[in-house]
Amino acid sequence: MSRVRRIAEPVERRLMERRVAAFHRLYFEAHGRTWKNTQWLGVRAYKNPLDLWIYQELVCAVKPQLIVETGTAWGGSALFLATVCDAIGSGEIMTIDTVVRSDRPRHDRITYVEGSSTAPETLELVVRHADRAAPVMVFLDSDHSRDHVLEELRAYADVVTPGSYLVVEDTNLNGHPVESGFGPGPMEAVHAFLAERQDFAVDIDQEKFFLTFNPSGYLRRASGQ
Ligand SMILES: C[S@@+](CC[C@H](N)C(=O)[O-])C[C@H]1O[C@@H](n2cnc3c(N)ncnc32)[C@H](O)[C@@H]1O
Repeated sequence: MSRVRRIAEPVERRLMERRVAAFHRLYFEAHGRTWKNTQWLGVRAYKNPLDLWIYQELVCAVKPQLIVETGTAWGGSALFLATVCDAIGSGEIMTIDTVVRSDRPRHDRITYVEGSSTAPETLELVVRHADRAAPVMVFLDSDHSRDHVLEELRAYADVVTPGSYLVVEDTNLNGHPVESGFGPGPMEAVHAFLAERQDFAVDIDQEKFFLTFNPSGYLRRASGQ
């Protein structure tokens, strides 16, 4: 490689990263118009559509028999996953939230679980279901504090089957690159978790659309472990 290219390439990469981060902040901060104003089939989903597209690709590739989601809210993301499962003809969704809402969508593939994602009775229920299913995929989207997400990561990691994904959502918080005052959040939990578990690694390919609310959050469990 020429000296000029050696210098130019990192500069171009940094410029591109800065542009992506600027758009990320614009999209995130305009939440009333963007991610808090996003519906799937009429149901609110707090999501960036580029991430939802990745979820569709992951579900289509892995074909999980069970998808566990922590953090249901209105049920839009659970309904999205159920719709993808309908299209491929397999999969059920267990979605967990401390809050009960009567207006969530009803769907044969969705089971709503009431309770904290880290409560022993919730984990027992999830593990009982997961023991009978393979592949299993997990999405973490509940309380975004570092300590809670790390507790979830430790509790749900073994539920994820080899070759499948543990998706840690909203790793963009705490300055990565949004909400710099948030405090330790999902990204810090991912760093601590990856230092403990060698069988999980960030799958950077899932960040191909540049904008993701889950940077370093698509964790793939190695096959054959
Ligand atoms: C960001 S919202 C989930 C959004 C939803 N997945 C979507 O995309 O539309 C976070 C949800 O996590 C729930 N939550 C907070 N702490 C929780 C916990 N310890 N266990 C389970 N759910 C929790 C909240 O009640 C809230 O509904």
